[in-house]
Amino acid sequence: MSDQSAPKPFSWEYRPTVLAKEAFHIAGGRPLSGSVRVSGAKNAALKMMAASVLTGETLRLENVPEILDIEVLRDTLRDLGVAVERESDGTMDLTAGDVEWLFVPLEAAAKMRASFMLLGPLLARFGRVIISNPGGDRIGRRPVNLHVDAMRALGAEIDYRDGYYFAKSSGRLRGAEITFPHVTVMGTENAMLAAVLAKGTTRIQPAAREPEVDDLITLLNAMGAQVQRTAPDVIEIQGVDALHGATHHVMPDRIEAGTFATAAAVIGGSIEITEIEPAHLGGFLQVLERMGVEHSVTGNTLRVSGLPQGEGSYKAVDITTAPYPGLATDLQPSAGLILTRASGVSNIHETIFEDRLEWLVGLRNFGAQVEILDPRHARISGPTTFTAAEADIPDLRAGATLMLAALAAPGESRIHGAHHVRRGYATIEEKFRGLGAELTHVSEEEKSPA
Ligand code: EPZ
Repeated sequence: MSDQSAPKPFSWEYRPTVLAKEAFHIAGGRPLSGSVRVSGAKNAALKMMAASVLTGETLRLENVPEILDIEVLRDTLRDLGVAVERESDGTMDLTAGDVEWLFVPLEAAAKMRASFMLLGPLLARFGRVIISNPGGDRIGRRPVNLHVDAMRALGAEIDYRDGYYFAKSSGRLRGAEITFPHVTVMGTENAMLAAVLAKGTTRIQPAAREPEVDDLITLLNAMGAQVQRTAPDVIEIQGVDALHGATHHVMPDRIEAGTFATAAAVIGGSIEITEIEPAHLGGFLQVLERMGVEHSVTGNTLRVSGLPQGEGSYKAVDITTAPYPGLATDLQPSAGLILTRASGVSNIHETIFEDRLEWLVGLRNFGAQVEILDPRHARISGPTTFTAAEADIPDLRAGATLMLAALAAPGESRIHGAHHVRRGYATIEEKFRGLGAELTHVSEEEKSPA
């Protein structure tokens, strides 16, 4: 089935920032069993969709996850005039022949920060774009200054007025040395998406080492770009005159894989997680290893066996998030949840985002003993046997984690804000039901997100 709509330049429709509010009803305490397949990676697919505007030819993406963030970017691209066709098998065709509406509104940016990924490719191909500042979100301020600095280094002129970046370049962008003060994933990717069509050579350092960046490099090279990782943290790009269409299979979602591994560890039971790339999970598997969570990897399958509630505990450890290949900040809530099942005191140090520990407050509702020492440090004392509770989901990863606490707690829990989880986890309810969990969702009243 296709959900194509014809490209409609200058037909931008105002869609207010409202999300259909949903809650999960969870009957927890049932150990998991069975097998679950990981979907395509959200944080790879979104950047690839943005890359589609670099050419007038069709870009075919396979293994695109069925999640809300993908729908939001699809709508934004359609508003720009990009034809987007999506098939039920996860294939998406994007054709950016006639992009004339070079404006990314606040409404798109407010729904999803990744809409800022359109800055680099629109500027590179069309020489101008007006794009809203995505602002902050529930995990901290999250500025975009490094993206903007990278575009300026490539020769763009950028003014900031009334919440919008007005970016333009006279003629082609020019290759440049881009030196970031610290690693930035989307900053690296935005710079790449601009530099592929620039005149001359660009060198990005330190370039993010996340596997999603390498998957994007593979796609860009398939489109005719010349991008190479010349050292672990250096990416070099020889600009080309034009890019063409290509077909690319999106890599598996390592964060989703880690979330299911966490589910087995905290809910108990034994599951296999298929179609993963084990090399991408290194930092997280080390945490499982240190804590004594039983797991094994065979080919592209990860098996995890966890201790049911009240039946034993894991080893307490200290964890610190870090850029790849360290422990991913997106798996900090997962790893933190497993720590509640450990005997003794564990510490969490969040080094990437300034305010990503607030979710631990919601975990207290389920009986966890948590102290937030400052915005980057927390202490967890365990082991906890979870009790059913009601909680509000503040953001995507924290939300998935609170859902796991509810699935582990015997009895009925209610989790408000389930739509945040749908932003990044494809068919999550079906996947958990397939593993023997009991959960349903109900609609709540519609309201603007905080
Ligand atoms: C990406 O965000 C991911 N998002 C995040 O996943 C992930 O948590 C993060 O990388 C780190 O791995 C997508 O890929 C869509 P950064 P990104 O730039 O690129 C600061 C999820 O749940 N910074 O690497 O925006 C920033 O505030 C999401 O899927 C600046 O100061 O993260 C942070 O402290 C959440 N100025 C640090 O750099 C800038 O211009 C690293 O952030 C840009 C970033």
